Amino acid sequence: MSRSKSYLLILFGLFLSQIFDISRSQGLPDFCNPYDKKILLSIKNKLGNPPSLASWDPNTDCINWNDIRCHNNEGHVTSIGIIDALDIHGPIPPFLDQLHWLVELRITNVPNLSSPIPKYIRNLTNLTSLTISGTQITGPIPSFLARLTNLTSLDLSSNKLTGPIPDFLGRLRSLNHLDLSSNGFTGPVTTALAYLTNLNNLQLKSNKLSGPIPNFLAQLKNLGSIDFSSNSLTGPIPKYLGHKPGLTTLRLSDNQLIGPIPKSLGRSDLAFISLSHNKLSGDASFLFDVANKNILDIEIDHNLFKFDFTNVDLSRNLMGFNVSHNMIYGSLPKRFGQMTIDSVDVSYNQLCGPIPNGRRFKRVNPIIFGHNKCICGGPLPACK
Ligand SMILES: *[C@@H]1O[C@H](CO)[C@@H](O)[C@H](O)[C@H]1NC(C)=O
Ligand SMILES: *[C@@H]1O[C@H](CO)[C@@H](O)[C@H](O)[C@H]1NC(C)=O
Ligand SMILES: *[C@@H]1O[C@H](CO)[C@@H](O)[C@H](O)[C@H]1NC(C)=O
Ligand SMILES: *[C@@H]1O[C@H](CO)[C@@H](O)[C@H](O)[C@H]1NC(C)=O
Ligand SMILES: *[C@@H]1O[C@H](CO)[C@@H](O)[C@H](O)[C@H]1NC(C)=O
Repeated sequence: MSRSKSYLLILFGLFLSQIFDISRSQGLPDFCNPYDKKILLSIKNKLGNPPSLASWDPNTDCINWNDIRCHNNEGHVTSIGIIDALDIHGPIPPFLDQLHWLVELRITNVPNLSSPIPKYIRNLTNLTSLTISGTQITGPIPSFLARLTNLTSLDLSSNKLTGPIPDFLGRLRSLNHLDLSSNGFTGPVTTALAYLTNLNNLQLKSNKLSGPIPNFLAQLKNLGSIDFSSNSLTGPIPKYLGHKPGLTTLRLSDNQLIGPIPKSLGRSDLAFISLSHNKLSGDASFLFDVANKNILDIEIDHNLFKFDFTNVDLSRNLMGFNVSHNMIYGSLPKRFGQMTIDSVDVSYNQLCGPIPNGRRFKRVNPIIFGHNKCICGGPLPACK
């Protein structure tokens, strides 16, 4: 391109940016609605004008405030985020229900926020996304949340909520993301969740849930990720979990699951399997096998698995695995020496023999091979 041509282009660009500046200053309605701004300022006031909300400055347009979004044409506030605010205390502030256009409310990491979820939240029926996470809010999930039927995402993780996972959550038919992790929920995984046919992501880890892994999950065709880790779930892993197209992540570690892993899990879409710290037994070698094409990471440490690792033809995509604290015997699979493995742990088993291509592992911390019968070479003493 000639110099003069590019000069023209630059001029044209400047011209365009001028036009946009002019239309902005002539008041295209992309500014915050004054009524909504007043509401936000009274919320801030109610919270004691904390420094974390310093950007909520009465002298600036609230469209410029941190984590506030407004409607393109009307200027009404559509999204509020109160994030990483350690200086906010007391209950969830009032007045949010006066922001009728609110579709997204995100309260994240406000660790001194307390009290139960206030009743007026039931009037926020335009919400499609509600996050209250990393707070001290207490109480059961209130039944009025069932009125928020436009919700596609509900995240109440890392709070102090208790009681059962209520049946009325089954009325939130649009949900595709449900995260109730890290609370004190008790009882079974309620069957009412079977109505959530759009559910893609179901996160229930770190609660006190009991009972078996429910069968209704088989009906949820859009599930991509399940995390039930760190609960008190009992019984076996159901077969159907291996027959769910699109299910790529399954985390069931730290429960009291028993029995063998169903064979279906070895020919599934699963990429991430975490079954650590259970009482699972039998053969798990098929998870590692080349026929299990999609697998990337397998965590099965601290179980009762007992199988011969010697002749397993490791899946080509496998990036890491942890099989420590089982009763796996034989030698390390041949292909182990060729893989680009990020993180491996085979310690505390009954394995024996040379580490294939052991020179490659010379710099690896030998503890990942420790406490076996007679593994040798590589970072360990040479084989006899
Ligand atoms: C929902 O939003 C619309 C604008 O999109 C508004 O007119 C209506 O009042 C809102 N409804 C509620 C219950 O706030
Ligand atoms: C607020 O929460 C943080 C983090 O949990 C804590 O360190 C701090 O002491 C709390 N502040 C007050 C005044 O309670
Ligand atoms: C919710 O809205 C209704 C009317 O739509 C109103 O009567 C009620 O007072 C509002 N507030 C609460 C907390 O429900
Ligand atoms: C869901 O949102 C739509 C507009 O997007 C609104 O018309 C409808 O009333 C909302 N649903 C409920 C239960 O308020
Ligand atoms: C394997 O699991 C053990 C026990 O949970 C843990 O200490 C270790 O760090 C894990 N290894 C890897 C490579 O993640």
